[in-house]
Amino acid sequence: MRITRLAIADWRNLSKAELTTDARFVILHGDNAQGKTNLLEAVWMLAALRSFRESQPRRLVKEGSRFARVEAQVVGPYDTRRLELRLLPGKRRLRVDDVAPTSLGSWFELLRAILFCPDHIRIVRGVPQERRDFLDRAIFTVSPGYLELAADYRRAVQQKAALLRTGQARPAELAPWNDRIVQLGARIALARHAMVETLRPHVLAASAEMSGPAADARTVELQLRSLGGEELGLSAVAERIEAAIARFGEEERRRGRVLVGPHRDDLQLRVEGRNAADYASQGQARTLVLALKLAELAVARSRGVAPLLLVDDLTGELDRGRMQRFLALLTAQESQVWITTTDPAFLGPLPAGEARFWRVREGQVWLEKGSQTG
Ligand SMILES: Nc1ncnc2c1ncn2[C@@H]1O[C@H](COP(=O)(O)OP(=O)(O)OP(=O)(O)O)[C@@H](O)[C@H]1O
Ligand SMILES: [Mg+2]
Repeated sequence: MRITRLAIADWRNLSKAELTTDARFVILHGDNAQGKTNLLEAVWMLAALRSFRESQPRRLVKEGSRFARVEAQVVGPYDTRRLELRLLPGKRRLRVDDVAPTSLGSWFELLRAILFCPDHIRIVRGVPQERRDFLDRAIFTVSPGYLELAADYRRAVQQKAALLRTGQARPAELAPWNDRIVQLGARIALARHAMVETLRPHVLAASAEMSGPAADARTVELQLRSLGGEELGLSAVAERIEAAIARFGEEERRRGRVLVGPHRDDLQLRVEGRNAADYASQGQARTLVLALKLAELAVARSRGVAPLLLVDDLTGELDRGRMQRFLALLTAQESQVWITTTDPAFLGPLPAGEARFWRVREGQVWLEKGSQTG
């Protein structure tokens, strides 16, 4: 899928912006604090219905305005749709070709995106939650229905946790929530396990490609640490979770916390045999995150989904070689790529005729003349 037209009104510092493009590479460049990330955030908002850096929707609306609007023409494999999102005081309004979508699921089917922003370094460095979120997002990219499963599971864990915190939860009260955790948890554990197995060869390949001649290339590893590991079927995983709940039930009651279930999974990442969170250099960590994102993209494409790739602030911390090899990998696949950067020269040559350079300054966006080629 591609966005061929984007129109924005009163989003952050962008009063009015319009881009029309059929390019595969959309480069947004300009100095600091001009609105590049804001623009990318607007695109992400359409795909994810939430921001990657703001939980308060009203802060997404331009100061002094009452509502914001983001509209995109999306060319998909079968048809072209116009997606529109408005943020109004206290609510959000969605339209597909001027009609309210029947469900969120139907909306998410229309535009999918994979995001890389500098904060995503946390996937390598941060707490297990960051890595679970990455995995869940990768599953969601290929099957949007997963969102519902994950939300149902989260609710079950929250309900059980609330009961445990009272300090007087009776086994009979906990039983229905334990059942939910076993049933939904087993499906989540299996989906994550399958996703890790599917991602692995792509992560290894992308990381080796990007690292080039560097020694760390061959030795990236990823492994899901989960009760549901290995090649188990659904009922076997469910049994494992059930048994663990029985074993830790007493401790859960004592500590007032839900200790068993896939909300405790971790995706272990290793570089050169060592835990990447502690040992990877900044460049290695960033390379690994990009490799994970490229793998997510490759898996999506192998399932017939072609998400956009949104890359914020590519130029920090990657050496020139790695960055150019990353761009070469992007060139080799067909997805539309949006990149923000302060200095497009740093990107090096992009495929002729496939890149457009848009200048962003003080919330205004315009196409650079003669920006056809790199
Ligand atoms: N709701 C809002 N209304 C008006 N301006 C806003 C709003 N939210 C953020 N801004 C402003 O938008 C400006 C541009 O932010 P943005 O993050 O897009 O910059 P950028 O071009 O990506 O810069 P950098 O290169 O530093 O990452 C900031 O100065 C910020 O104060
Ligand atoms: Mg920025």
